Amino acid sequence: MRRAVCPGSFDPIHNGHLDVIGRASRLYDVVHVAVMINRSKQGLFTVEERIEMIREATADYGNVEVESFHGLLVDFCKERDIPAIVKGLRAVSDFDYELQMAQMNMGLSGVETLFVPTIPTYSFLSSSLVKEVAAWGGDVAHLLPEHVHAALIERLRAK
Ligand code: PNS
Repeated sequence: MRRAVCPGSFDPIHNGHLDVIGRASRLYDVVHVAVMINRSKQGLFTVEERIEMIREATADYGNVEVESFHGLLVDFCKERDIPAIVKGLRAVSDFDYELQMAQMNMGLSGVETLFVPTIPTYSFLSSSLVKEVAAWGGDVAHLLPEHVHAALIERLRAK
């Protein structure tokens, strides 16, 4: 069974994430989506809400498992016998930090990192930007799955 992990904060998941997860799901038998818990970062959505949104968004892929993890990504991988991390690279500005993490993860446990180039349609996309634009009333409907967009609008309205 060939396994890979797509890690992230996913607060919330957007179409750029989904593109990368979908492409990974065509290359691997099982793709684990790991919602990494960062206690020092207050999210707009709870980890449980993020997991539910990702499950709904990836249900049709058929081989995606979604869970949260508190700790090092390499420990998530070790516990599940996952040899590869798959990440999207949006632009050259992503590269330095992603390279550092890839090299650290390789040094810590030998886990490989594979980068997939984000499709140009989503090369500018990030969860933070989506939240900021939506908070000011900008239209982000085309950047998110429908249920995520609805949840975002609802959450921002309640704030
Ligand atoms: O969506 P994000 O916030 O850009 O994802 C970053 C994430 C969660 C993938 C990264 O911070 C991570 O791997 N965190 C887990 C803790 C860890 O392993 N840190 C060392 C990385 S070398």
